[in-house]
Amino acid sequence: MLDIKSARKVFYKGQPDEKIALNGLTLSLKAGEFGVVIGSNGAGKSSMLNAISGALSLDSGQVLINGNDVTNMPVHKRAARLARVFQDPMKGTAASMTVGENMLLAELRGKSRGFRPGLNAARLAAYKERLAVLGLGLENRLDTKVELLS
Ligand SMILES: Nc1ncnc2c1ncn2[C@@H]1O[C@H](COP(=O)(O)OP(=O)(O)O)[C@@H](O)[C@H]1O
Ligand SMILES: [Mg+2]
Repeated sequence: MLDIKSARKVFYKGQPDEKIALNGLTLSLKAGEFGVVIGSNGAGKSSMLNAISGALSLDSGQVLINGNDVTNMPVHKRAARLARVFQDPMKGTAASMTVGENMLLAELRGKSRGFRPGLNAARLAAYKERLAVLGLGLENRLDTKVELLS
């Protein structure tokens, strides 16, 4: 499902502060498997995630999703094939939009969208149910802007 093959990324190549962020990284995850990546500060964890999402272009190596080579596919196109949660939650959400609107954006990721009202009663009910599982009270704040949470 996810294959990283011999991924290499060097920052400031050839300069005194050269940093080898990814040094021939190979990783293979099948559908349903999950991985935990542990490493000290600067080990290359974020670089790996950025390479998977497309935010970071590799010097060499490949990234495959479901067997398709996405190495040269830009972030916005790859977004239809993967989802990502950022370390800073504000980065992965639209702050001036409501919780419900953000969930709608997530639901419609990678799907074609037309000019129709997106949030309807059925969707809101479904989001409420899914948020309730988290036990954070978010199911009662679907109309709250993300920037006003907390
Ligand atoms: N945009 C960048 N420009 C220059 N160096 C970077 C950049 N991003 C990461 N690095 C360097 O690459 C190495 C790996 O960093 P990073 O992937 O952020 O590690 P981690 O997430 O495991 O802390 C570090 O030495 C870091 O300083
Ligand atoms: Mg990091």
